[in-house]
Amino acid sequence: MVAVTPLVQTAIEPLGYTLHPYPDNHRLQVITLQKETIDAFKQATEQWNLQAVEYKPFLRFAIADQLDRVCNRSLSSKLNGILSNRETGAFLLQYDSDEAKDDTEFHIKLSTAVSHLIGVPNFDAMYGKYYACFAVENKDDSDSYLRQAHRRMELHNDGTYVDERTDFVLMMKLAERNVQGGESLLLHMDDWEELEQFYQHPLASESIEWASPPSKNIDYKVSHPVFFEKDANGRPMMLFIDQFADPQNMDQGMYLYAMGESLEKDPNCFAVTLPPGSMLVIQNHIWLHGRDRFMADPGLYRELLRQRGHFYK
Ligand SMILES: [Fe+2]
Repeated sequence: MVAVTPLVQTAIEPLGYTLHPYPDNHRLQVITLQKETIDAFKQATEQWNLQAVEYKPFLRFAIADQLDRVCNRSLSSKLNGILSNRETGAFLLQYDSDEAKDDTEFHIKLSTAVSHLIGVPNFDAMYGKYYACFAVENKDDSDSYLRQAHRRMELHNDGTYVDERTDFVLMMKLAERNVQGGESLLLHMDDWEELEQFYQHPLASESIEWASPPSKNIDYKVSHPVFFEKDANGRPMMLFIDQFADPQNMDQGMYLYAMGESLEKDPNCFAVTLPPGSMLVIQNHIWLHGRDRFMADPGLYRELLRQRGHFYK
């Protein structure tokens, strides 16, 4: 008698989101949370107000757990899989819902959920919390390019001048008005055409000093090479930022100058337009990021949120 394999009813649960590669660069993965997912997440986290989330760090993990739950326990592994794969290492997370667009508290919770599915955010010394919110306006008198609208913010890695690991950077757009330009810029270091020229250079493994201006509230200097570490497959990872390198001799100065020039002219850098409420999350040691300049407009206003932190080990 032929054994009959019983038919198993496999419930195909919706994941609560869709996933596809970004059209201009297939390394970047685009995750779109469905409206039902957003509604369910909002409802599940309404019990915790922002002050409670700021006062009690464990609530941030509870919020992350709710986001994973409403995505049928599939989101955490998906996000970690994207970030740990050197071929991808970045995602743009957005959602299909108009109701949440102006809700800053909701956006802080959503970004908190995402960050805590992948790691622990570092204390942001500029803002005094585990996250930072700041605005870009038409005029600015700050001491770095972060909030200066009319300048291109050159490609860099975050965490270059601090003594704690910055494995990931989460950049979220909360709101904007009268904005033209100002797209996020991204370059994967394996797409940098002159990488090998700089990586094989004698100064590639020499320690450089890095220091930051007063607004960053970091009162020490650090030193490390640009190519500070290798990944599990022996490929380089980097920490570079043009503004805060403090070369101590002509060779270092010219090496870093040439590196900045090379990165800025690289044809594989691409621009990403973030809709309000969406976020970019990158593996900070393999992706360089920056921001294109804005068109001048007296009413220009953009509000951003960032979290930077280390992966779970
Ligand atoms: Fe940055």
